[in-house]
Amino acid sequence: MKAKYVIFDGMDGSGKGTQMDLLQKKLGDRVVFTREPGGTPFAEKIRMLVRDDPLAGESTALNNFFLFWAAREELQHNLVMPTLQSGKPVFSDRGDSSTYAFQLWGEEHLELLDMFGRMRDLVFDERHEPDLYIVFDLPADVARARVMVDAARNRNHFDDRDLAYYERVREGFIRFGRNLPVVFIDATWKPAEIHRKVLMTLAAEMIIPELAFVID
Ligand code: TYD
Repeated sequence: MKAKYVIFDGMDGSGKGTQMDLLQKKLGDRVVFTREPGGTPFAEKIRMLVRDDPLAGESTALNNFFLFWAAREELQHNLVMPTLQSGKPVFSDRGDSSTYAFQLWGEEHLELLDMFGRMRDLVFDERHEPDLYIVFDLPADVARARVMVDAARNRNHFDDRDLAYYERVREGFIRFGRNLPVVFIDATWKPAEIHRKVLMTLAAEMIIPELAFVID
C-alpha cells in the first residue's frame, strides 16, 4: 500500500496543536510530521517572513496567497515527495485547506478561487494530492474566545480578528470539504476523546489501518 499524506487543519483555538502532539507521541517515527508554512529550512524562512516578520502585517492577501503556495511547493518537492516515496506517511499541521479558509474566505478574496485550483494542479499534480484532511471544527465564537483568553499563546497578526472573520474561516473549511476528502471532528469535545476519534479516523480511512487493533 502506498504511503499516505494527511493534513490536519482547523481554526486557531481548535486544539489542533494539542492533537498533533498526542499523535506524535502515539506514532513516533512511523510517520514524518511536518507543518505549513515551513517544514524545510527554506520554507521555514518563508514562515518567518509571512508570520513573524514585523512587516508581515502589511502584506496583502494576494502576497500571502503566493507566499503560502511558495512554501508549499518547497515542502512538496523536498520533504513530502521523498518521504512518501520512501514508504513513510506524512502528517502535516495545516496545508492548502488553510489557504482556502483563511486567504479566500477569511480575508474575502474569492476572486482567487480559480487561481487556487490552478495552484493545486501545479503543486500537487503529477505528485501526490493529500489523501485526507482532518479538520478540527468548532463554532466561531468558541474558537475566538479560546484564542483571546489563551494569554500564554504566542499570538500572531493572523489572530487579531473579529468574530465575522472567524465565521468566514469556518465557512471556508466547510466549503473546502464539499469537494475534497475532509473528515470534520468536533473540537468542543475533550482532548482525549478527540484523540481517540482521530485514531479511529486514521484506521477507518486506511491511513494507518493497523491502528484499528490498538485503540482502547
Ligand atoms: P501558527 O502559529 O503556526 O498557527 P497554528 O499554531 O494555529 O497552526 O501560525 C500559522 C498561521 O498561518 C495561522 O494563523 C494560519 C495561517 N495560515 C494561513 O493564513 N494560510 C495558510 O495557507 C497557512 C498554511 C497558514
